[in-house]
Amino acid sequence: MNAAVDAALEAIAAATDSAALKAVRSAHAGEASPLAALNGSLRSVPNDQKAALGKLVGQARGRVAKALGAREDEIIAAETEARLAAETIDVTAVPLRRSVGARHPLTLLQDRVSDIFVGMGWEIAEGPEVESEWFNFDALNFDADHPARAMQDTFFVDPLESHLVLRTHTSPVQVRSLLERELPVYVLAPGRVYRTDELDATHTPVFMQFEGLAVDKGLTMAHLRGTLDHFVKSVFGDDAKVRLRPSYFPFTEPSAELDFWHPTFKDGPRWIEWGGCGMINPNVLRSAGIDPDVYSGFAFGMGVERGLMLRDGVQDMREMVEGDVRFSQQFGMVV
Ligand code: PHE
Repeated sequence: MNAAVDAALEAIAAATDSAALKAVRSAHAGEASPLAALNGSLRSVPNDQKAALGKLVGQARGRVAKALGAREDEIIAAETEARLAAETIDVTAVPLRRSVGARHPLTLLQDRVSDIFVGMGWEIAEGPEVESEWFNFDALNFDADHPARAMQDTFFVDPLESHLVLRTHTSPVQVRSLLERELPVYVLAPGRVYRTDELDATHTPVFMQFEGLAVDKGLTMAHLRGTLDHFVKSVFGDDAKVRLRPSYFPFTEPSAELDFWHPTFKDGPRWIEWGGCGMINPNVLRSAGIDPDVYSGFAFGMGVERGLMLRDGVQDMREMVEGDVRFSQQFGMVV
C-alpha cells in the first residue's frame, strides 16, 4: 500500500500540465488503480480486521486525493499565468499601418471633369442606365435602321417589346434634361454606358462617358469651341488646345470629331482624338418640344477611360475594371 501511495505521489509531482495530471489521476486514483483494487479487496478481509485496514486504505486514498488537488491548483495557476503572459496586449503600441483603400481613378477623373464644368456654372444631370430605346435612339434622330441599333452593338433588355436597352451613350440625357429643365440648359452628364464589346486592352463592355449639353438663345460653334478649349486646358495644361474635324452624328448638325493637342503625351506632344461634338440637330430640339428657330445649342461626349489612358499613360483598359486596389492607390487620395 505504501508503495502504491509513493508511486502515486511521485507521478503527481512529475506531472507538469493538466493533461499529464489527468492521466496520473486515472492511473493512480481511478477505478483501475492499485489503491482502488486494495479498497475492493477489503471485502475478503476478516471482519475483525476490516475497520483498521479500511481506515488505512482510506487514509492512503485521502493522501493521494489531496496531493492531486494541490498539484491541480498549482498547474492551473501556472497555466493561467502563462496564458495571460502570452495574450498580453500593449495598448500603447503603434499599430501596423492598415491600408484604407483608395478611390478609383475613373471616379476621380469623373469628379474632376464635373468640377471644371460646375466651375463654369453648369449643372450635373443624370439619367438611367436602363434606358428606353426612344431616348437612346429615336429622340436623338437615329433612323430605324441605323447600324448602332443593331443587336451586335447594343444590349437589349428582355423582352424586346419593352423597348429598353442598356444606354449605349450618355446622349439620351440630353433629351431628358431638355424635357425636365427650364431653358436655358447647361448640363454635364457623367455616367456609365454599355456596348457589346469584348473586354480587351482597348475595349470594355461597360465604360464611362460624360456628355455636355448647352441650349440657349444664340449659341454657335464658337461657344462649343471655346468651352472645349477651356476644358482641355483645365485637364491637360495651358498648352492644350482643340481641333474639330467634320464628322457625322444623327443628333448633331454640323458634327465634328474632337481632337486636342496633348502637350505632355508620353510619346511626345501630338493631336489626339477624344470624342464627338456638334451643334444640336433641330430634330432633337423638336423632340424635346423646343423651337429650333429660337434656341440653338451644342453637345459633346467623351470617354472617361480614354481620358485616363491619355492623361496618366494607363496602357490597358483591363487594369481599370479589375478592381485591384494597388492600381487605384497609385493615383493618390485626392478627394
Ligand atoms: N454620343 C456620341 C458617342 O457616344 C458622342 C457625342 C456626344 C457626339 C454628343 C456628339 C455630341 O459616340
